[in-house]
Amino acid sequence: MKTINIAIDGPGGAGKSSISKAIAAELGFIHVDTGAMYRAIALYAVRNDCVEQITDHIEEIDVELKFIGGAQRVMLCGEDVTDFIRSPEVTMTASRVAAVPEVRAHLFNLQKKIAAENNILMDGRDIGSVVLPHADLKIFLTASAEERASRRYLEMREKPDCPTYEEILEDIKQRDYNDMHREIAPLTQAEDAVLVDSTNMGFNEVVEYITDLIREKTDLR
Ligand code: DC
Repeated sequence: MKTINIAIDGPGGAGKSSISKAIAAELGFIHVDTGAMYRAIALYAVRNDCVEQITDHIEEIDVELKFIGGAQRVMLCGEDVTDFIRSPEVTMTASRVAAVPEVRAHLFNLQKKIAAENNILMDGRDIGSVVLPHADLKIFLTASAEERASRRYLEMREKPDCPTYEEILEDIKQRDYNDMHREIAPLTQAEDAVLVDSTNMGFNEVVEYITDLIREKTDLR
């Protein structure tokens, strides 16, 4: 059976994950958050203090995704690490390990396999350009760095140790730079991707807009 594959790429903090999750629920698709896979490898590197030597360890790093009630859980060597991969340290390390070709190759096959077996919305940085070049639809979802920082700040400001808006903005710009300037599979808009700039759009508006595009493109009702 041919599966439906939708690629959603864009910079960090553009809302790819939450938007993809909402659309996937609406269409009955699986949402695959590929960033979580890079984060799982980063967690391994942090825990084992081997960020610089990550290629020497790649064969022992077993990353798997499980979908429970449509929600993705990330397994690292059999342990569910979903709740441990969002710390600032893992976030910054993920951006570093994602620049390593062996890390990308390690995750590529797994991503292809999931896409071949399921109707999916897969979000990341290189999904439309590298992982699923023949996706049924490619979206490049972005927003200005200032808008992304302000959304993140609003989400985090009630939490203890919340960074300042300026620190969040600095972090976002640094990650954008890392993701766009690495040699392998840099963050880029695929030629045939539809650009969605959500700087001045509400969450529901973006979800509706992309869901409509998917329905049009795939004849889903
Ligand atoms: O989307 P995210 O913030 O969870 O991604 C974590 C890191 O992984 C980010 O720095 C970019 C990288 N990444 C990537 O290089 N390719 C992908 N397909 C997904 C994420």
